[in-house]
Amino acid sequence: MNILILGSGGREHAITWKLAQSSRPLKLFVAPGNPGTAEVAVSLPVDPLDFPGVREAILANRIGMVVVGPEAPLAEGITDFIEGDPALAGVAVIGPRRAGAMLEGSKDFAKGFMKRHGIPTAAYETFTSGTAGEAVSFMRRMKPPYVLKADGLAAGKGVLIINDFDEAVTELKAMLGGRFGAAGSKVVIEEYLQGIEMSAFVITDGISYRILPEAKDYKRIGDGDTGKNTGGMGAVSPVPFATASFLEKVEKQIIKPTVDGLKQEGIDYRGFIFFGLMNVEGDPYVIEYNARLGDPETEVIMPRIGSDLYDLLEGVAQRDLASRQVIIRPETAVTVMIVSGGYPDSYGKGFPVSGTGNVSESTLFHAGTGIKDGLLVTSGGRVLAVTSLGPEMQEALARSYRSVGKISFSGMNYRRDIGFDLKKYLE
Ligand code: AMP
Ligand code: GLY
Repeated sequence: MNILILGSGGREHAITWKLAQSSRPLKLFVAPGNPGTAEVAVSLPVDPLDFPGVREAILANRIGMVVVGPEAPLAEGITDFIEGDPALAGVAVIGPRRAGAMLEGSKDFAKGFMKRHGIPTAAYETFTSGTAGEAVSFMRRMKPPYVLKADGLAAGKGVLIINDFDEAVTELKAMLGGRFGAAGSKVVIEEYLQGIEMSAFVITDGISYRILPEAKDYKRIGDGDTGKNTGGMGAVSPVPFATASFLEKVEKQIIKPTVDGLKQEGIDYRGFIFFGLMNVEGDPYVIEYNARLGDPETEVIMPRIGSDLYDLLEGVAQRDLASRQVIIRPETAVTVMIVSGGYPDSYGKGFPVSGTGNVSESTLFHAGTGIKDGLLVTSGGRVLAVTSLGPEMQEALARSYRSVGKISFSGMNYRRDIGFDLKKYLE
């Protein structure tokens, strides 16, 4: 089977790395890929949003399965595009069609879906520029902080949490006035949930589902969860406060009703579902859905899957996932993201990265790297995800931080405290 993975980050490297360990005869291609994926797969210079280019790559390389990494091609309908083309008949796509990707692509759709299926989430209402006055009255009845969410995809910047009422009204008006373009033409205003966050992941063939390891990520740039939001500075799996009884609630109250709800609404969803959850005094609430795996969560999920990932993907393609098993390894996996100086604001690129060859205790998943004059150089904000396994979190973290210490480039930055808030649950 020839498989094409779409994307170029640490998530796609981790998926490709895991598929490369399959016992099945697979030939792996990544578009566009990066120097890390190039160690285990063939890179194809195609942008995942260039659908005709993806089509050519599928035909030229006799691809039988496409695994979609990021959300943008899903929201743009890559799955509908491939499934609708007679020349591509029989090509399986791991990733939902546009209708299913709406779980991520429209906050208003996701909230309505949860309401229809009794899935616990923060109370909310949706407003447009025509109902801005009602939005202000709604906020007046709420307690701060105010949570404002642009309806559409806004590159992770569409959620504002504001304490001051007047500031929230100003921001709301800016959103409805076009600050996030069309993504903000509708705004969801919701109740603030106080708790600790984590994420759950499933793979589904539209009939049944298999639960993958859960994870916690660290979104802020600074130690102690301070400073600006980033794509993610590190992750840990398993999550120590996600006890068996909590995870049972997640499955019963959230995962199962979501998969059943999709079926009931005639949405044939085949791919991954990422549940962003808030643990509020032991009860799970959905903060958001994503129609894909997380980055850097995938970099800790993949090493914890003990079984063959291809077996699960084949279960989705053949719609017999119910007969496939996921074996989850008991060790803890952590990842520490090494980022460019200045990230998440502007940063330089093209700095030579040294020391990666000296890393022996960790796996390096490439996120934003390139090759220049034969040398590994930085090419993005997030550069390398340094993943380690250990019998428990502290040992895994010690391994990753020793590995980080061997790597250097001009301006390199990383968080020193991944897992800091989880230690109290491990005592
Ligand atoms: P999202 O883009 O939906 O993941 O939101 C970004 C972040 O905002 C989440 O990871 C949470 O930390 C926070 N957040 C979103 N919604 C809420 C809420 N209702 N209550 C508290 N925090 C929230
Ligand atoms: N790490 C969060 C995300 O992938 O959306």
